[in-house]
Formats: sequence, C-alpha cells, structure tokens
Amino acid sequence: MKLNIAVLPGDGIGPEIVNEALKVTKTVCEKFGHELSYKHALVGACAIDKTGNPYPDETHELCMQSDAVLFGAIGDPKYDNNPSAKVRPEQGLLGMRKKLGLYANIRPVSTFDSLIYKSPLRADIVKDTDLMCIRELTGGIYFGRPQGRSEDGTIAYDTCVYSREEIERIVHLAYKYAKQRNKKVTVVDKANVLCTSRLWREVAQEIEKQYPEITTEYMFVDNAAMQLIQWPNRFDVIVTENMFGDILTDEASVITGSLGMLPSASIGIHTSVFEPIHGSYPQAAGKNIANPVATILSAALMFEYAFNLMDEGKMIREAVDASIEAGIVTEDLAQNGKSYKTSEVGQWIADYIKNK
Ligand code: IPM
Ligand code: MN
Repeated sequence: MKLNIAVLPGDGIGPEIVNEALKVTKTVCEKFGHELSYKHALVGACAIDKTGNPYPDETHELCMQSDAVLFGAIGDPKYDNNPSAKVRPEQGLLGMRKKLGLYANIRPVSTFDSLIYKSPLRADIVKDTDLMCIRELTGGIYFGRPQGRSEDGTIAYDTCVYSREEIERIVHLAYKYAKQRNKKVTVVDKANVLCTSRLWREVAQEIEKQYPEITTEYMFVDNAAMQLIQWPNRFDVIVTENMFGDILTDEASVITGSLGMLPSASIGIHTSVFEPIHGSYPQAAGKNIANPVATILSAALMFEYAFNLMDEGKMIREAVDASIEAGIVTEDLAQNGKSYKTSEVGQWIADYIKNK
C-alpha cells in the first residue's frame, strides 16, 4: 500500500517526538512492504514566526492532499504570557480542526500494568481501566460566536453553540465504537444548567433507542470528573462536548501515570489527524528528554484508522509494551533513576519492530 502523509511537528518538543514517530512509521512500512511518502509543513508558533499565520494555506493544502496527518504539538510561552497577542499558535490547531472538518477527537485511555505504580491513584482503582473518550471538536464554546470584549474592555464573552446535526453525528460515532467495545455509552453534559447540554441530552435520548444492545447512561460533567478518578473502570465510551472533553481527557490521562503516554485521533470530513494529547512542553524542547510514546501510539492509530492496517498498529503497540517492560523509558517514567533519551526510546521501539 502507498501511504501519503503530512508531517506537522509544530512547536516545543513537537519536532523531537514526531521524529521518533516517523522513525517507527518508516520501520513499519519497510517491514510490511508499504511505500511511504511524506512531507513536512509548518503549524503553530513556528508558522507564525515564518509566515505570520499559525495554519498557513500551504499547510492546509498539504493536509488536504495527504491520506493522514501526523501532528506533534503547538504552543509557546511567549504567547501564554501575553493575553493580548492577536495571533496565537492555538488558532492554528483550531483552524486546522475546523478546515479539515475534524468533528471527533478519539482519546483511548488504558493503563500499562508495569506502570500502574506511577499513577497518582491507588493500583486497585486504576487497574483494568480501558475507556475511550470521544470529544466533539469543532463546535461548542471553542467556536461559538459572538466572542469578544465590550468596547471599554471590562466585559468579555464566549458563546456555546451546538446544532442538532453536530450532536447527532458524534453521538452515533460513540455508539459505533461502543458496539465494538464493552457496549456502554456515557453521555456527559451539564443539562441541569446549560441549554446546549439539554439539546445534547434530548438528541442522545432519541439516538439511544436505535441501539438497544448498548447501555446508555447520562452524567453531569462535575460528577463525571469525580467518578473518573474514583472508579475509572466503570466507563467504556464517554461522549461529550468540546470543552468538557478537553478537561476530562487531561484528567483521564494522568490515571495512566503519565500524560506522555496517550495518543489521539481526530477524524471527520477530510484528512484525519493523529496527535498526542499532551502539549508542547517548552521547558523540555531541544533536550531530547520528552516521552515520544504518545506520538508513537498516535502513529499506531494512524495505521489503524486512516489505512485500516490493523497488524501494523498492533505491532507498534506490542513494541511500546515491550519497551516499557524492558524499562526503556524517558525520565517521566524512570524507575530507580535510570532513564533514556527521547531518541533512544524511539530507536529501541523501531529496532524491536525491525527485528521481530
Ligand atoms: C488539546 C489542547 C487544545 C485544545 C489547545 C492547545 C487549543 O489542549 O488538544 O486538548 O484545547 O483543544
Ligand atoms: Mn487539552
């Protein structure tokens, strides 16, 4: 098969972790006899520095022409500390999501047995956690208009908007995944307060009837935040709106012991994007210390979701498991002070696949 991918490393540790994921992708392609062609493009703060635009047209064109996008991370402290900056790196990511129609962000959360001791939660609580959070990605308060400031600057406002159609397509997707998994969907909202949440619940209650083999439950987001750390393995598929999903998935990610382990797939109308759920970790940029596993596992999702190449995805997962078992981990996961560099972890995983 011919794989044609766009590589968008972005900012901070993005280039280093994407490099390792690309190394692994190349090895898998050699091993399984696929032809890989890839091109790099700019996004985020580095794109602003070079072109003034966080998601240049050229980058968008490349994404549109590719079969999948491998994405690193965006963000730079010089913007975080300057709330009045007009152009921000995050606009690049949001613009890409909107223009590619990536309405669903799929974030699987599962634990690695050998890392359970790293979790801030007790092992008996964390054990066997295997859930999938499906976050709506192109609507809600992130994109609703009006958004702005009053003329005198003393009042600011954002607007949360959802249409029936936006809710329908993501809720159906949640049921599609639940069917292949443990047949349970938790719809997370704030229907006791928000009008958009009441529409979510109304739509989900209609759709629920079409999937009698799936158990559906409804949960307010504050309760969900609590249950997620009290009893994470009660969840199977969680479906929720954009901002609730953003917050809950960061929370869910630490259950596994490190934010550096969790991949994601953003899918929708045009080319799908595969990216780690963590950010650009600017303090670690250029130091070769960041954990590349979330991005390597995102490449596994890319093989599976974008190319339907299941054995290839499985092979990457197996190699990652083996690296953790062997203690070939970056400093965030180090035991007894022994840790490896970003590039060493990536190389170990690639070599494992090569020699398999
Ligand atoms: C994420 C990030 C982004 C988001 C930021 C960088 C805009 O936190 O992908 O979860 O809030 O969606
Ligand atoms: Mn986030």
